[in-house]
Amino acid sequence: MSVSIDTARALLANNDRGGYTVPTEGLYPFQWNWDSAFVAWGFATHDIDRALAELEALARGQWDDGFLPHIVFHADADSYFPGPEVWRTPKAHPRTSGITQPPVFATALRAIEERGADRARVAALYRVALANHRWWAAARDPLGTGLVAILHNWESGRDNHPSWDGPFERVAETTTTTIRRRDTGHVDAAMRPTDAEYRRYIHLVDRYAALGWDPARLWADTPFKVADVGVNAILIAAEADLAILAGRHGTPAERQEIEARHRRMTAAIGGLWHEGLGQYVSRDLISGAPLDTPGSGGFLPLLTDAPDGERIRRLATTIEALMAEGVQPVPSTFPGAARFDARRYWRGPVWAVVNWMIARGFDRHGRGDLGARIDAATAALIERGGFAENFDPLTGEGLGGVAFSWTAAIYLLIAERRRRMARVA
Ligand code: GLC
Repeated sequence: MSVSIDTARALLANNDRGGYTVPTEGLYPFQWNWDSAFVAWGFATHDIDRALAELEALARGQWDDGFLPHIVFHADADSYFPGPEVWRTPKAHPRTSGITQPPVFATALRAIEERGADRARVAALYRVALANHRWWAAARDPLGTGLVAILHNWESGRDNHPSWDGPFERVAETTTTTIRRRDTGHVDAAMRPTDAEYRRYIHLVDRYAALGWDPARLWADTPFKVADVGVNAILIAAEADLAILAGRHGTPAERQEIEARHRRMTAAIGGLWHEGLGQYVSRDLISGAPLDTPGSGGFLPLLTDAPDGERIRRLATTIEALMAEGVQPVPSTFPGAARFDARRYWRGPVWAVVNWMIARGFDRHGRGDLGARIDAATAALIERGGFAENFDPLTGEGLGGVAFSWTAAIYLLIAERRRRMARVA
């Protein structure tokens, strides 16, 4: 498929399953949480109603306590493992997974509203986001430290990043669930996590299912508790967006509550800075160890007010140095890191959605020049490699699944942004 605004829109239409969008046909046949938030944002460039519908469909998967699942199983499909029978969550109609994903929802909602959305529909979705942010604070930061924890690597969205290898040494392999991988039927196994990794991923699912997916019991029992730098940064940015939405759709008390969480988290994320690497890193909350494999996730705190001038300068210098060496920005794991693998999922490849966020982070801190360079590099990768799932940081080749919704969404957003900038100039 040639790459253009028209083909990006056609791709989204093609992956539309009637009000929600699958990440790609076959490999990911349901609705995924953060994929859909980016897809909604992408739809907002040309179809506001459809953008709102995407978030409304995701909201149908919300649990009573505000939790938003990483997968909503609106319809059956047998091309994906683990399906609902492995998750065994209490939620029915629709069924869902029991873990979450980076909370981009409120940020996407604000972006949609700014493009002229129906007020009543935005107000209803604001309540969904507010309940979700309250869930994050209560379920994932019960001690009020200002950092939320992920309890499964898939919650980071950066599934097999080497940072999770250390914490996973504490995690057993499943003995009760048979692994029936479907992903390697769609994509070359060399680009995917290994079988041993999958057995550990599923052990956590088995364990949490046995605890009835009760947040307090998961918190007390889990062997995997990580302050992921990406999720924390994305949540802080989302709290800032939610505060603005609260000003229009909520009460003053809600706005104060959101701003208090936002301040507490902004202060806490500074503790994830790694001076030696010159970037932020995640932290193992059980051992206390920093998870110091450098990669794109460590740049996401640019979405917040946390970094000072010196840190911003170091983050920018690192990206500029990579680009000067001919590396495509921004590798999920940096070349030179011990477990770098240019083709294996989050161990090297570049993802358009992460680039989009990092670029907006540089814009926010007065480095719009670098944001624009990252956008240009992202658009060029897509134009050469297609709407691929991810891209080889050394060769630029498109990898993983093809015809990916969120890659098309980012292409549309970059194109819209460039049109706007051209008008301003
Ligand atoms: C993979 C990615 C995750 C994404 C999903 C659907 O699991 O790691 O971030 O949401 O695919 O695209």
